[in-house]
Amino acid sequence: MTETADGFVVRPAGPADARSFLMLWRSVVGEGTFVRSDAVHGSVRTFRKRFRSSWTNEEANLVAVHGDRVIGHLSVSREEHPVTRHVASLGMAVAPEWRGRGVGSALMAEAMAWARAHGVEKLALSVYPDNQRALALYAKFGFVEEGRLTGHSRKSVGYRDEIVMGRWLIDPPT
Ligand SMILES: CC(C)(COP(=O)(O)OP(=O)(O)OC[C@H]1O[C@@H](n2cnc3c(N)ncnc32)[C@H](O)[C@@H]1OP(=O)(O)O)[C@@H](O)C(=O)NCCC(=O)NCCS
Repeated sequence: MTETADGFVVRPAGPADARSFLMLWRSVVGEGTFVRSDAVHGSVRTFRKRFRSSWTNEEANLVAVHGDRVIGHLSVSREEHPVTRHVASLGMAVAPEWRGRGVGSALMAEAMAWARAHGVEKLALSVYPDNQRALALYAKFGFVEEGRLTGHSRKSVGYRDEIVMGRWLIDPPT
């Protein structure tokens, strides 16, 4: 856990982060644009429980905190099917006023450290095609576009395509 020049810290989430995390997540979902979720499910209690084990062989729940406030979050978890266990999928969000200040990059660097430490061979994610900032962040970390799923999200605003991206942590199979 290292404090950055901007005064935020990235670390595994703990139960005490649940309330602040939920405020962050509600605000990002409320924007209605960037993430799949149209509504927030789960209570402070749900996340208190989930954040009891935030760095396991199965998953990492990471937070960026400034003081006591959760300003960013990244969740990465291994696929469940036996033949896709080498892959882990991730999702992330940063508070609006903190975007473009390196929080997402710090979270992604930590997620990659988790993946490497646990023998994950590939990271996967999906992103909406107009999410320029997210696309820039993923490209910076070596993710490449692997395809486009048409109308894959049916959000309250309508159908949206998703770009699927992958980042191999070993030499990709030929
Ligand atoms: C996508 C998101 C997680 C990125 O986090 P962030 O803290 O803003 O990212 P960073 O500040 O680390 O920036 C990463 C790169 O994006 C680029 N970038 C920053 N702002 C940008 C913008 N407005 N447009 C295009 N690229 C931009 C920067 O060049 C930066 O690379 P650099 O460090 O080499 O300069 C964050 O913006 C966010 O939460 N957005 C809303 C929710 C979301 O989209 N979640 C992901 C869904 S797939």
